[in-house]
Amino acid sequence: MVFIDACFRKKTPYTPIWMMRQAGRYLPEYMEVRNKAGDFLTLCKNPEMAAEVTLQPVEILDVDAAILFSDILVIPLEMGMDLRFEKGEGPVFSDPIRKSEDLERLYDYPEEKLTYVYETIKLVREKLPKDKALIGFSGAPWTLATYMVEGSGSKTYATIKKLIYTEPEFMHALMIKITEAVKAYLVKQIEAGVNAVQIFDSWASALEKDKFVEFSWDYMVDIAEFLKDKYPHIPVILFPKGVAGYLDAIYGKFDVFGVDWGTPIELAKKHLGERYVLQGNMEPTRLYSKEATKEGVEKIVEIMGAKEGHIFNLGHGMLPDLPVENAKFLVELVHDLTKR
Ligand code: CP3
Repeated sequence: MVFIDACFRKKTPYTPIWMMRQAGRYLPEYMEVRNKAGDFLTLCKNPEMAAEVTLQPVEILDVDAAILFSDILVIPLEMGMDLRFEKGEGPVFSDPIRKSEDLERLYDYPEEKLTYVYETIKLVREKLPKDKALIGFSGAPWTLATYMVEGSGSKTYATIKKLIYTEPEFMHALMIKITEAVKAYLVKQIEAGVNAVQIFDSWASALEKDKFVEFSWDYMVDIAEFLKDKYPHIPVILFPKGVAGYLDAIYGKFDVFGVDWGTPIELAKKHLGERYVLQGNMEPTRLYSKEATKEGVEKIVEIMGAKEGHIFNLGHGMLPDLPVENAKFLVELVHDLTKR
């Protein structure tokens, strides 16, 4: 698989590409299945339909990897929290976790209840062409904690950050609980057949540097090292979003560092390019214009070269209304420009 070889810095015929949030609302084919499902969580819990939308971007865009269709919030959901996706508002938990006693409400083994995810993985792996990789994923403990404590998306993270400074022991107890669940969940995804895993830390940038290391990065690396010891042949990709200023704090045993669009890729290359394969990082909004896309690709390829050590991706997820045609154009362009 070109994508897996690239994760291990092996020679590949071209630079592989996939896109975060590549399965989603911009695809009419996705909307059709989602409407049939009725709502997003029902879609996540239905292995046949989730497998179908996982495969769509590979068939339609010819990306080099599929990413499992699910959501990071299925862990808190199966820990027993009450999750709703509100139209226009994003995810909402009606019963946030804010004090020690709340921890007792959280079921310790959500991985046992996430069988629909493993079923989806098996179905996808049966149907996916042999040369295409299937990426499993989880939210990072810190990003999961932000939703569990805030109860929804947040602009300031005031509630969880206050707890970091006033109740650090409680916060670490929560982080440990989530970290153990993520480990067990990713083991089950690997056993079901994913070829690589990515951990999304979407809200890493909410923390100052020391607290980022203490509450976000240390837990991510703990998971990565646990997985690498157990499954050295499965690439581990870490994506902490918005940490351009903290690159000198990045350490640990993992394979690929996901570079977000706010981190100049030349800076990531300078700090991390020798130790980790870099994945990224075109600004997703460029995809609204073919010209802007071409300019973005050319600049990244010029810096990273048509050679080992790079996986092309966006610097965050695809937006819901972008033209499918431009996404196809991006994939072709990357494959073309990086042909060895
Ligand atoms: O990348 C993929 O195509 C795989 C599937 C995937 C989804 N969410 C599907 C989804 C993945 C990997 C995620 C990860 C995820 N989910 C993250 C981390 C990545 C990032 O974007 O930073 C986060 C923070 C979430 C939480 C989440 N889920 C939010 C904030 C929202 C609402 C925002 C929105 O776009 O509506 C979701 C819903 C969600 N997850 C959708 C999809 C396709 C949209 C649901 C729909 O309306 O069909």
